[in-house]
Amino acid sequence: MEKELRFSTRAKNYPASGIRKMFNLAAEYAVKYDDMIKLTVGEPNFDTPNYIKQAAKQAIDDGQTHYCPNAGMPQLREAIAKKYQPYWNGYTKDHVLISVGAMEGLMLSMMALLNAGDEILVPDPCFPNYYGQAEMIGAVAAPVPTYEEFDYRMQAADVEKALTPNTRAILLNSPCNPTGAVLSKEDVLAIAEIVRKHDLWVLSDEPYDAIVYDGSRPFSIAEVPEIRDHVFVLNSFSKTYAMTGWRVGYLLAPETGYITKMAQLQEGVASCVSTFSQVAATEALKSTECVTQMVADYTRRRDILIDGINAIPGFSCKKSAGSFYAFANIKAFGKSSQEFAEELLEKIHVVVVPGSAFGKMGEGYLRLVFANSDENLKEAVQRISTYVAEAYPNMK
Ligand SMILES: Cc1ncc(COP(=O)(O)O)c(C=O)c1O
Repeated sequence: MEKELRFSTRAKNYPASGIRKMFNLAAEYAVKYDDMIKLTVGEPNFDTPNYIKQAAKQAIDDGQTHYCPNAGMPQLREAIAKKYQPYWNGYTKDHVLISVGAMEGLMLSMMALLNAGDEILVPDPCFPNYYGQAEMIGAVAAPVPTYEEFDYRMQAADVEKALTPNTRAILLNSPCNPTGAVLSKEDVLAIAEIVRKHDLWVLSDEPYDAIVYDGSRPFSIAEVPEIRDHVFVLNSFSKTYAMTGWRVGYLLAPETGYITKMAQLQEGVASCVSTFSQVAATEALKSTECVTQMVADYTRRRDILIDGINAIPGFSCKKSAGSFYAFANIKAFGKSSQEFAEELLEKIHVVVVPGSAFGKMGEGYLRLVFANSDENLKEAVQRISTYVAEAYPNMK
């Protein structure tokens, strides 16, 4: 008989990830088949640029292998503050904390700002970890539906409807995982007005801010002076510089005192981020050439995937304005997104994530990652196209 493990209520309540479920299923298939195409993993398929790797190697040789201050290395904090000066020229290094990816920045800011029972509004569909993170501190993530007709951009009217007496914060994620939505300046200003009126915190999770298409630049809520005191920005090197495994992210606060407190929390969570990773991140910021190149490749890949699936009967997919995710509507097939994702895995060995893994509003959609090679994306489109023609001959 299996031994009963005695977890805390919090651990028991931690939500199981729907993305993980698909990964595990795909892993079972991968043992049997060697032709799987995985459009699931939310990370760049590029290797970290060489100049960044060189900086890390040099840092290790130079003995940068010890603890550093909880808030991060001064030179990196300084460089980030400089990068954000166009948002607000008051940002200094003391407004910046270096975190273990944006993930830990999110966690630290929730820990610092929310109490048990507080609600934080999140977009639906969204990055599912927001729910687990809120759960870990006894807070509640409450969904704000986002709609395909608005290109999945969160609308102020829907935020207003989701408010309750317990609402303390709102989480924005533009560009958005999983929908690729980028909030317009008008969207942001309308939400900012609600933030002001109801005195809410804003956690603006922006790890895809550099991965945008068609010349659009995401407008950050940190650029709205009237609510500056409410806004915390979370960002990271993971996606922009293809550095997911280095675990370097950062958080910007509107007052240095928040950073002092969060650095204390950091002491109990991770102490600090790996020092040679921070040296490499400082070097990364010195150039954006590699980012421009990667975005050019993502642009082509977005078109291969989205134009390709839009030509398949039953599929319809908006062009993602940012990120490397496509969010395809599959409602015409009349199946749940989990069933349809499993069908594609089983029949044609193409792995995608069911939209339902990202929230109730994701039902009827699939998330496909186009951070993959041109060849794989073309092959995936071809397989789906052939399969749909055979299995759904009457689909229009
Ligand atoms: C929306 C969003 N926020 C935050 C993260 C965390 O990224 P990291 O901790 O690697 O910076 C991710 C990663 O997939 C993400 O998609």
